[in-house]
Amino acid sequence: MARTPWFDLSGKVALVTGGASGIGMAIAVGLVDHGARVMVGSRNREKVEQAVKEIQRTAEANDADHIADDAEPYVAGVSLDVTNNKSVEKAIAEVVDEFGRLDILVNSAGVMLRKPTFELTPEQFNEIYNTHVTGSLRCAQAAGVLMREQHSGCIINLASISSFVDLVEVAAYAAAKNAIMGLTRSLANEWAKYGIRTNSIAPGFIPTDINRKMIENTDRGRRILEHTPMGRFGEASEIAGAAIYLASPAAGFVNGHCLVVDGGYLASGIGDSFAPWATPE
Ligand SMILES: NC(=O)c1ccc[n+]([C@@H]2O[C@H](COP(=O)([O-])OP(=O)(O)OC[C@H]3O[C@@H](n4cnc5c(N)ncnc54)[C@H](OP(=O)(O)O)[C@@H]3O)[C@@H](O)[C@H]2O)c1
Repeated sequence: MARTPWFDLSGKVALVTGGASGIGMAIAVGLVDHGARVMVGSRNREKVEQAVKEIQRTAEANDADHIADDAEPYVAGVSLDVTNNKSVEKAIAEVVDEFGRLDILVNSAGVMLRKPTFELTPEQFNEIYNTHVTGSLRCAQAAGVLMREQHSGCIINLASISSFVDLVEVAAYAAAKNAIMGLTRSLANEWAKYGIRTNSIAPGFIPTDINRKMIENTDRGRRILEHTPMGRFGEASEIAGAAIYLASPAAGFVNGHCLVVDGGYLASGIGDSFAPWATPE
């Protein structure tokens, strides 16, 4: 008897925002490995072009099944600013031009600002919120229109440990990542009738461009590791499995869920409010 292809994404097309680096790029590689065609997008065109080459190199090295016997392109890049309506609409149109449809949206575009909250300006707060939350909404709406027509689709938002526990001096980021949970549940409820499933992934601490300075070889990083049962940071590639799963037939009845991938950090039951940098002056 043939095995059920639980994780097969052949024939599926994905857009990964923020897909030119870090977690987004690792997810793009994972989706390609499992048969999807993928468009990666971010603001920096040069970075996007480099990422496309890197994803192709990795896919070829991994001998991804559908690549050898398929002359069609399976990865492409697009300039995309998720804070700009026109840019989002143009990017979605480019996905359709290139690949003919859109089945999977991964909202991985993100920015971070660590700052004592007394010094955080409303403009800075809004910029972070606009990128993570309004940006994810813009992309979900534009992609959702196509998914509704197809009566099938899957949206994956990037949440965070700060969606669950307090992390110090990143108030805008934490507010945004809490809102991502609400957005995910709202879309899961509202759009299931259109055949669209919406879920999120909450990665633990993965050194990438967004946080490397904050956690690599710093006191904060050391404390995080002390509260991570697995005793190490994660790797971006370790988040890809969660995205492959959520996008795949294996997750066909999974909707409105947040999949935490954190080496056990949340299980240890602590935020970082007890850390030395958070103690009263
Ligand atoms: N790393 C972690 O520990 C961790 C933990 C939990 C959640 N996350 C979340 O995971 C997601 C990916 O982060 P990462 O760790 O992979 O960091 P990253 O490597 O810095 O990736 C973020 C990407 O977002 C893009 N971006 C930023 N603003 C954008 C905009 N307005 N429009 C389009 N793209 C934009 C950046 O590229 P350009 O500058 O070229 O636009 C960058 O490639 C984020 O949502 C982050 O909050 C990360």
